[in-house]
Amino acid sequence: MIAQPPLLTQEGSFRVLLITYNRHLMQKFYIRTFGCQMNVADSNEMGRHLKARGLVETEDPEEASVLLVNTCTVRQHAEDVAFSELGRLRPWKTRKPGRKLVVTGCAAERTKQSLRGRFPFVDLVVGAKAIEDFGQMAERLLAKRATDEDLDYAIPSMGHQVSGFVTIMRGCNYSCTYCIVPYVRGRESYHPMEQILGEVRDRVNEGASEITLLGQTVNSYHSDGSKGRDTDFADLLEEVAKVDGVDRIRFMSPHPYYMTDRVIETMAGVPQVCEALHLPVQSGSNRVLKTMMRTYTREHYIGLAEKMRKAMPDMTLSTDVIVGFPGETDAEFRETLSLIRETQFDWGYIFKYSPREGTPAAEMECPPLELIEERHQECLAVLEETGAGRRARLPGTVHEVLIEDGNFGRSRSNHKIRVQGDVVTGEIVRVKITAAERATLQAVPV
Ligand code: 5AD
Ligand code: SF4
Repeated sequence: MIAQPPLLTQEGSFRVLLITYNRHLMQKFYIRTFGCQMNVADSNEMGRHLKARGLVETEDPEEASVLLVNTCTVRQHAEDVAFSELGRLRPWKTRKPGRKLVVTGCAAERTKQSLRGRFPFVDLVVGAKAIEDFGQMAERLLAKRATDEDLDYAIPSMGHQVSGFVTIMRGCNYSCTYCIVPYVRGRESYHPMEQILGEVRDRVNEGASEITLLGQTVNSYHSDGSKGRDTDFADLLEEVAKVDGVDRIRFMSPHPYYMTDRVIETMAGVPQVCEALHLPVQSGSNRVLKTMMRTYTREHYIGLAEKMRKAMPDMTLSTDVIVGFPGETDAEFRETLSLIRETQFDWGYIFKYSPREGTPAAEMECPPLELIEERHQECLAVLEETGAGRRARLPGTVHEVLIEDGNFGRSRSNHKIRVQGDVVTGEIVRVKITAAERATLQAVPV
């Protein structure tokens, strides 16, 4: 319940009125998120729990009385960055009594035994497997809340999010030998379709017209739903498209194994599904893919890319690549480069292999760091080359841009586009591309 401020009152009595409504009404929270979109979605979910308990979000940690650090552990560097941020928060915690510091996410899950010892000023640890219990944990945390004098107050603002995330599954049943995710997020579990559609409607009511469905291997989704027990990811896409107000559907990240003909046909056939796909390949060498336990071959991946581009000629394709996986020879690395050229990716992320304790690949010998660095640079250059080649076809073409922030928005193909002239956040504008030299394209309305 939100207290309506009386129109005419002195500041003092206004404050007393708010406090009598609810003692932690108008406390502020701040969330710092590291890592992938799943973490962003988890942060949003935890934020909704806090909002439901009367807290309001702030962009300024100094104003906050509850601060969440949502951590990532996919590579050692990601974990180090999150924990050094946490270390720097000790003065934040001690400066004002009653402040609550919460650590959540994958690095919290991985290190929860030692975390309290390293950071004794942390109030609550919520590992990635426990995110769905955050509501109850927050309740207990806030029950021990500070006195009102310690807290800062604000008038709540209405959030306007043109693009909303909906988590459809958690965890991962794969055992890619480099990956820590199955250890920290656990086995796959799928949200019931009705729950997902309810969340889609919530995001639309909050102002979203674009929905991104999220899961570690999002297209392995199956659950009870429109087709009974056999309801799969393609069925879910069809159902989400039927929700009033959904203009665009995206999803992240699919696994090549589940990129079935039926999913491709549904993507091509359902108008709301956008022509953009992020499909991690990891390596172009069959021997490396096998050692990674990726369950597909180079030929299968290239075949998939061809099939999808045939079904959706304007589709952009992006990917994740790991360079310097243990045992990767120069010839195998060159196979990754040739796959990038053959597949003509629009963009992608190139990661330097990072050993994760407890994973099978961490037992194997790593290539020297300088070699990984060299391969990283070379791979980035090849990807930039294919990306530039793909962008060169764009000037003069017409796109629909959903305006997200100021003059910036995204096309259905997921290009970031700066539109000239007066535009309004949340509107879809038809534009013509005028320049495409850089990753952010320039365009004028048509
Ligand atoms: N080292 C480097 N990159 C990794 N990824 C996952 N685990 C590792 C690791 N140990 C990359 C993969 C994945 C992306 C999210 O992170 O490319 O698709
Ligand atoms: Fe990690 Fe592989 Fe699962 Fe992706 S599919 S989260 S890379 S184990």
